[in-house]
Amino acid sequence: MSDILRRGRLSKSPGEEMRAYTSSMDADKWIFEADVYIDMAHTLMLQEQGIISKDDCSQILSGLLQIKEEGMETLDFSYEDIHISLESRLIDLIGEDAGGRMHSGRSRNDEVATCIRFALRSELLSILEDLMKLETALTALSSDHIYTLMPGFTHLQHAQPTTFAHHLAAHADAIERDIGRLISAYGRVNICPLGSAAFASTGFPIDRYVTAARLGFSKPMTNSMDAVSSRDFLIECAAAFSNIMINLSRMAEELILWSTPEFNFAELDDTYASTSSIMPQKKNPDTAELMRGKSGTVVGSLAALVTICKGLPLSYNRDLQEATPHIIKSAHVTGASVRMLTGIMETLTIHEDVMKTQSAAGFTTATELADTLVREAGIPFRTAHRIIGTLSKTAAVPSLKDIDAVSYDLLGFKLSDKGLTEEGVSGALDPMSNVERRRVVGGPSPAQMRDDLADKKRRLSALQKEIWDMDLAVEKALENLTEEVKTKI
Ligand code: ARG
Repeated sequence: MSDILRRGRLSKSPGEEMRAYTSSMDADKWIFEADVYIDMAHTLMLQEQGIISKDDCSQILSGLLQIKEEGMETLDFSYEDIHISLESRLIDLIGEDAGGRMHSGRSRNDEVATCIRFALRSELLSILEDLMKLETALTALSSDHIYTLMPGFTHLQHAQPTTFAHHLAAHADAIERDIGRLISAYGRVNICPLGSAAFASTGFPIDRYVTAARLGFSKPMTNSMDAVSSRDFLIECAAAFSNIMINLSRMAEELILWSTPEFNFAELDDTYASTSSIMPQKKNPDTAELMRGKSGTVVGSLAALVTICKGLPLSYNRDLQEATPHIIKSAHVTGASVRMLTGIMETLTIHEDVMKTQSAAGFTTATELADTLVREAGIPFRTAHRIIGTLSKTAAVPSLKDIDAVSYDLLGFKLSDKGLTEEGVSGALDPMSNVERRRVVGGPSPAQMRDDLADKKRRLSALQKEIWDMDLAVEKALENLTEEVKTKI
């Protein structure tokens, strides 16, 4: 049949290049299922509102069901987008007298905005599930290592002793914030533009609340012009994905460093490693390197989205079509990366002995020693900092005698005369006792970590419930919609 879109206003067909340049069919595969559901919900509402007859409604619904079952492959990919291709297939199946009524009271502008929100919310739910699994893996690993000493770093230089649990829980806290950001974004994604039509809504007596609810959205979007024009929800999600990927990339970077013989803190399972085509001995952490690289892809999508949306006048502009592939790509890369990192963490070999030895290397106990001078000898911290700083230039592990010599030189008295003891010094030089002393909120002491991890586990089960409820609400709505469609045929 002739092109149902162009046959009126336009008298020439597009050339192949124009067709390819303007078509969104490739990216629209992502919204095929969404579009069918949206067509169904809209059609049911049109009939209930007396806008189309029962008979037309039932014909349209059975055509849509057939299209859903046949899948997108049977659609004509030469159309400019899935909406027109789908409507054209419907008209082919049931004729224009019934099929030509489906698009009453709406436009592709509200249709596509609804489709994107519909498809994106599934992506959000699936990434949230993936993040929960990663968070669970990090928390479990952390719980196993509350006594595993390791050096903490600043400027990638040995700084102070900490535990592997504390280090992992730091990453887990970042991921928990990512989960919170996605849940919050979900609330702004899961609202329904349908019925806004081109931008000025419609003169047909449609019921936007009914379609929104049937599709599992929390409510209709208020302003019909905003509903078709806005893509800030894409920017927001891409920014949240970018944050996730930056957090993942930082973990990946550490895994890469830890896998070197210089660090030798950990080893990736063979499943996640690659080898060299020439150097037979090589075991390379390629998966982690790709994760670091893919973070660039996701941040690139965010840059693309921001730039596409910038400076667009209200309401719909075709530029917006260019935004969709970026959100698809960034969502898919993010989900895959989160799943990959979970696997890596679950199978990681940890070299506790190396971490322990390294926890004291580089005089990591210097801060605790300076603090001990303050506590036992009553000198100001800045003075203690100077004494230990001076000592660290020469003595790898200073003794009470070394400290006395420097304090005598600098201050004119020995700190042992002011209350500094042998036990005080040796205690300060013990990395485990350094860690045990750091028991303030957020500190690495095993007791504190145990409390923090228990709190985290409680928060995680509350988050998991929230995510399952969001998931269930959508699933139920779509199940009901499918049932209703069947009863109307
Ligand atoms: N393919 C279009 C998109 O992705 C659908 C909306 C087209 N609307 C229009 N007025 N040309 O944005």
